[in-house]
Amino acid sequence: MLDQAFVVRSLEEVRFWSRIMKEHSLFLKLGFRCEDTQLINEANHFYVTFEAIENKANAFTTGTDPNVIKRFNEEVHTATSYIWAFKRKVLGLILTCQLPGANNFPLLVDHVSREANYFRNRLAELNTGQLEPLADAIIDENVFFLRIMADHAKFISHLLDPSERQLVEQANNFSQEFDTLLYQARDLESMRPQSQTVPLLDQFLDQNRVSVKSLRDFKKTAKDLIDACRIKSIIHPLLADHVFREAEHFLVIIDMFERSLTDHQKSS
Ligand SMILES: [Fe+2]
Ligand SMILES: [Fe+2]
Repeated sequence: MLDQAFVVRSLEEVRFWSRIMKEHSLFLKLGFRCEDTQLINEANHFYVTFEAIENKANAFTTGTDPNVIKRFNEEVHTATSYIWAFKRKVLGLILTCQLPGANNFPLLVDHVSREANYFRNRLAELNTGQLEPLADAIIDENVFFLRIMADHAKFISHLLDPSERQLVEQANNFSQEFDTLLYQARDLESMRPQSQTVPLLDQFLDQNRVSVKSLRDFKKTAKDLIDACRIKSIIHPLLADHVFREAEHFLVIIDMFERSLTDHQKSS
């Protein structure tokens, strides 16, 4: 049974991730060499596709017929499968040294493909109505996003000018902090279902939230400094904003889990 909640959740996800996919196309394009015209054209094509999806998602309202949204989600799912395949193809080209001198790190290309895969899975979950049980979702989503955050810290560290010694050190500290949190999340993952108690999951969320907030603030500072041309880096201003928004998104998810966990406790 599709209802208004389905429409609201779908539009939230598609509005957020279609903009992200559109920006990935731009970042990939900027990292190609000027002679890679075929790859540049493909990236441009994805930019246009996801911009159209974003506009369409913004034009729908919470009152839109759920069946229309279901078909729209399928359309977005297909487009996301294509961009995922494109990203994996580019990763293959880089790892077999067929793009010497291009400027996309392999980990960045892998990272954006993982985000596409995540978005595709979310769309499939929404359309089939098969959501994971809360305790599993808490662990899985945190394992996914902690790795994303750890990667962001690494990208920032590597794209800052090496002469920005203090900022590079701060970014490296975040990288270590998030690697540690990721290991902890994986420990909790392997100890399930016994690890899925309310106090353990609650503490897990609290601990992650503290670190994500401080990384989010660091990204905001970096973004402001880049916008004002106060620091030396090869970070595109939109990339700084992009990783900031992804941290904000993770915080929204953590808070949503926290609320569900509290409700769950009250009702049991
Ligand atoms: Fe991204
Ligand atoms: Fe990301």
